Amino acid sequence: MLDLKIEGAEVIDGTGSAGGRTDVGVRDGLIAAVGDLSGEAAGNRLHAAGRAPGFIDMHSHSDWRLWGHRRAESKIRQGVTTEVVGNCGFSPAPVTAEHLDDLRGFALYVPKGMDFAWRSVGEYLDAFDRDGSALNVVQLVGHGTLRIAAMGFARRAPDARELALMQSLLADAMDAGAWGLSSGLIYAPGSYATTEELVALARVAGRQRGLYASHIRGEGATLLDAVAEAIRIGREGRVSVQVSHLKAAGRPNWGTVADALALIDAARAEGLDVMADVYPYTASSTTLRTLLPDWALEGGVDAMLARLADPAARARIRAELEAPPTGQSLLDRVGWENVMVSSCAARKDAEGRRLSELGAARGVAPLDAALDLLADEGGKAYMILFQLAEADVRRVLAHPAVMIGSDGSALAPYGELAAGKPHPRSYGTFPRVLGEYAREQRVLSLPQAVHKMTGLPARRLGLADRGVIAPGKRADLVVFDAKRVADQATYEEPHRYPVGVEHVLVNGRFVIKDGEHTGSLPGRVLRPA
Ligand code: ZN
Ligand code: CU
Repeated sequence: MLDLKIEGAEVIDGTGSAGGRTDVGVRDGLIAAVGDLSGEAAGNRLHAAGRAPGFIDMHSHSDWRLWGHRRAESKIRQGVTTEVVGNCGFSPAPVTAEHLDDLRGFALYVPKGMDFAWRSVGEYLDAFDRDGSALNVVQLVGHGTLRIAAMGFARRAPDARELALMQSLLADAMDAGAWGLSSGLIYAPGSYATTEELVALARVAGRQRGLYASHIRGEGATLLDAVAEAIRIGREGRVSVQVSHLKAAGRPNWGTVADALALIDAARAEGLDVMADVYPYTASSTTLRTLLPDWALEGGVDAMLARLADPAARARIRAELEAPPTGQSLLDRVGWENVMVSSCAARKDAEGRRLSELGAARGVAPLDAALDLLADEGGKAYMILFQLAEADVRRVLAHPAVMIGSDGSALAPYGELAAGKPHPRSYGTFPRVLGEYAREQRVLSLPQAVHKMTGLPARRLGLADRGVIAPGKRADLVVFDAKRVADQATYEEPHRYPVGVEHVLVNGRFVIKDGEHTGSLPGRVLRPA
């Protein structure tokens, strides 16, 4: 006897092939049978519109929010059943006693109860897993976190002892259940690393069949050099490479994603395993302090705040933003009117406002408005940059080596996670790909879109028991209405759940039933076999 039988309508199985009418039977957390199950008895029956495997968010930052928000509202309601966390070089472990305060000060959000009682990634994952969560978690180890653990915010190459420490912390993490290494090469202290340092670490991840995911060194004028660096790290480190949130930022660079994709294709033709992910929006979002040149963070957050108060340092920041010595600027002719403060804690009036407006209102230059805000917020604020081309988003979405990653976090429209105006991707990414880009714009077919959020990332990760609907696989399932599924979150009103996602099962248990959260927490930390 089955625990649950989902009958009728279309099953999109995650492999990329067209959907078909079949029933799906669930027993003991597994997909027990697929086919005509009309003769099978079941404890529970469900008539469904469309079904797919649970979505895998290939690029998430939920590790921080999830710690204090196990219901994972904004993600589970999109149909996400597994999140790949620890991205862009930043994970909550490993930590060392010597540099624990550096990491804690660097984090923009530390939930109540996140006590950093752990040191290793294994200890962290065990601590997280104790309370369960609505969805499953795949953990990457941040290169920035490794660097902080070994050498704080020192702006130099590691010495032999420091590099060996980073390598051994990473090797231990891989043994304990991490899936690879991530880097954030526009963010200090990750940006202080040479390519050679990254190769030395990527090799450790590769040796243990891990992945190297990178927020590359530049997404604007230096996009192609940055993609080439990621590919080189893959080649020399003998590791699979995931280019995170592929984009061409800044109007002068629009269109160059085609060249970036060509580099990826060429690497793949050479036999290297290089892929990418993307989110379906024309705005990006990051921390406000990313406006600063990376030397501004040398020595840590307190040192950065001291520099904000120093007129000479400010003048140097301004000069370098106008003429970046690396050729790479976060604001490549973006215009201050296209930079919106999305969330901050102290000066709530700034939320949702453009830096051009904030400057005008205070009678200062937009950059000074940003730096003043950063100082008032103790370095902790986020911004949204409207700087991407719709045609580029479509092109990247349609590429066969690209999957879907939100770059967002699990938020909720209530409590402290409802604060500010965060990027709508945390609520809308997956329904937006299915609704806007598959159904409405037909940039890709529905089975292809589903494949990019299920079978493709599962295969990428080596997650053999998830990502497709087939007997013996784990019962992570989404029931959605393909005619209706759509995102509702906007830049003005981001805290809105999507429509058309009816039921979500994680490990065979309902977390969303009839559009409502059941409170169930069947998700687990997934560890490589
Ligand atoms: Zn990133
Ligand atoms: Cu990210």
